[in-house]
Amino acid sequence: MATLETMQFPTLVEEIAGHAVGQLAKQFGTPLYVYDAATIAERIGDLAPFDAVRFAQKACSNLAILDLVRRHGAVVDAVSAYEIRRALAAGFTVGDGTTGDDETPQIFYTADLFDRESLDLVVEYKIPVNCGSPDMIDQYGARLPGGQITLRINPGFGHGHSRKTNTGGDGSKHGIWHEQLDDCVERAKRNKLTITGLHMHIGSGTDLEHLSQVCGAMEKAAHVVGPTLRSISAGGGLPTPYREDDKRVDLAAYFDLWDATRNRLATTYGNPISLEIEPGRYLTAESGSLLAEIRAIKHMGEKLYYLVDAGFNNLARPILYGSYHPMAICHSNGERGGPTSGTVEAIIGGPLCESGDIFTQEEGGYVCTRTLPEAAVGDYLVIGCAGAYGAVMGSNYNSKPLAAEVLVENGKANLIRSRQTFDDVIRGEVIP
Ligand code: LLP
Repeated sequence: MATLETMQFPTLVEEIAGHAVGQLAKQFGTPLYVYDAATIAERIGDLAPFDAVRFAQKACSNLAILDLVRRHGAVVDAVSAYEIRRALAAGFTVGDGTTGDDETPQIFYTADLFDRESLDLVVEYKIPVNCGSPDMIDQYGARLPGGQITLRINPGFGHGHSRKTNTGGDGSKHGIWHEQLDDCVERAKRNKLTITGLHMHIGSGTDLEHLSQVCGAMEKAAHVVGPTLRSISAGGGLPTPYREDDKRVDLAAYFDLWDATRNRLATTYGNPISLEIEPGRYLTAESGSLLAEIRAIKHMGEKLYYLVDAGFNNLARPILYGSYHPMAICHSNGERGGPTSGTVEAIIGGPLCESGDIFTQEEGGYVCTRTLPEAAVGDYLVIGCAGAYGAVMGSNYNSKPLAAEVLVENGKANLIRSRQTFDDVIRGEVIP
């Protein structure tokens, strides 16, 4: 289990996961995502007390990352037809579709709706489903009467690192409203479906205080469903440190709360209840760095801008949520910096033709500066804690190719996604 109370993020680095930054940049080009497999393995290990660690692959769904989490014993969540296909392509298997006592399904589909393709796919592969809307119960029941389902409940409250990542309360579209659970139990019966599990996910990047409130809501909901219940899921949302003074979440305290909840339910109904957790960010955020090259340095009035070759097409979290990521410089000429090297207050921007393409901004779009070692064109910028909701939220805006991705495992840096080519970027486009 990670022991560091608070984090240290140096602003001058030479290596990522034991590999020289300049070497990685030369070998694979920039912008480049680099993931450290050991960090992901360690984070999965932190959650070992839970019966199942279900990776919310939306955080980082590269096939090699899915394969890695699978090899380390995690199972996986899918929120779309192609996330199901990714899980299958990465070697996760499907069972008989049950959520029985002794089998943890390797793939689970959790969503608030079935598009037609995802409904066909869960039926074809018998992927267990976690329904986030009453309509899903009817649609699934019409295709697989006699089956089993779990329900995602919106407990009426939520919390996230941003309003945009709060998934509870009536301002959120997610989950079945807690007061409609009775009705959904009836719906399930009408469709000859058994409700075997309940799930609550109140938001992403929340805190222990809010997460802990979910246990009580879960227990209340569980009594509405009753003795058919075999599993409960605490959802995701575990925070990870992004700033030096961020503290690690007290996982032992969190597990104890959920364990006590599950034990009370197991005693009441005389069945074992399995306890799942569904982290995305917690498993991959800290493992990933986005490596970019400084390509221009300019002064605008009093302000200093370092412009790098990665933009919000590569890492959208700052422009979307005002998210803070640790940043460091690596001098390309081998200069080590040190106590005598000066620091500057720099605004870090990308190459996109849009004013919001700034990595140093707060929610609301307010541009701020970062204290960094003085750098030159050709030096590198390493954006840390970028392994969750980084590459996966990439786009081709401004016809920029998606970044390449590298996974460092057992000391070896392996390319796990090649940089898109021009042909990749225009694939599917047609001049009639
Ligand atoms: N389970 C469900 C049903 C979810 O909707 C999510 C995240 C997770 C688990 C995983 O949450 P996590 O453990 O990663 O907090 N793009 C945003 C985050 C969006 C989260 C969406 N759902 C960001 O960059 O912060």
